[in-house]
Amino acid sequence: MPTPDPSSPAPAGAEPRIPCHVAVIMDGNGRWAERRRRPRAVGHRAGARAVNTCIDFCLERGIGALTLFAFSSENWGRPEDEVGALMKLFLNALDREVEELHRRGVRVRFIGQRDRFGPALVQRMAAAETTTRDNTRLNLTIAASYGGQWDIAQAARSLARDVAAGRLDPDAIDEAMLGSRVCLADLPPPDLFIRTGGEQRISNFLLWQLAYTELWFTDALWPELDAATLQRALDDFASRERRYGLTGAQVAGRPQETSE
Ligand code: FPP
Repeated sequence: MPTPDPSSPAPAGAEPRIPCHVAVIMDGNGRWAERRRRPRAVGHRAGARAVNTCIDFCLERGIGALTLFAFSSENWGRPEDEVGALMKLFLNALDREVEELHRRGVRVRFIGQRDRFGPALVQRMAAAETTTRDNTRLNLTIAASYGGQWDIAQAARSLARDVAAGRLDPDAIDEAMLGSRVCLADLPPPDLFIRTGGEQRISNFLLWQLAYTELWFTDALWPELDAATLQRALDDFASRERRYGLTGAQVAGRPQETSE
């Protein structure tokens, strides 16, 4: 399959642009359960099924990277029973899904403060990463105990260590160097960000990496996610012109109209 160029809308008659990397905030599990008068944990279990829908969709469409926000740095502050239910769900999902993901060519990785999880989960995460490390069909990253501010701080800390050790001149630090120390530095930045659940905010997700990402929001709650909703996001993405701070004429390679 040719590498898609997600930078600008496809010319008429051409295949629509497909994002190389999609990042998702999976919001609305709790409300989905509450509307059914069920405990929030039931919503999270339904949310785990929607994760499979999303992975299937990316595999079918040839999307190379998918990053899912599963648990934020702030989510540790939720009621103890909800955090416990989520940990159990993550553990079960890893036990249940990794072999199948491996069989389908999915590379699984985790970003975030892993040392905050219990040893069983940490061990399963490492095992999933080792089992799937050579897969190339889909790069699946699960952001767990992750915060965008934490990510930038850990990148800054790593540069500061190099400066303190005399390995790095502070004047050499630029955006590219900091960008090489944040999570996902080995992937292209997300082309498309999707958030379900009706809220229109980034909520401390990939703050650095989303600088030029196209944002797409839907009122659908995460457990309601289906291929049609994801396709709407892709269609909208395909119709957008990405300018990266340039003019429309520059992006299209047209002569620039100058003002008088
Ligand atoms: C946000 O919905 C969702 C979460 C904090 C958890 C996300 C977890 C899953 C989708 C389940 C399993 C994931 C994996 C990777 C196996 P919310 O609870 O904040 O919903 P609300 O806004 O309606 O309360």
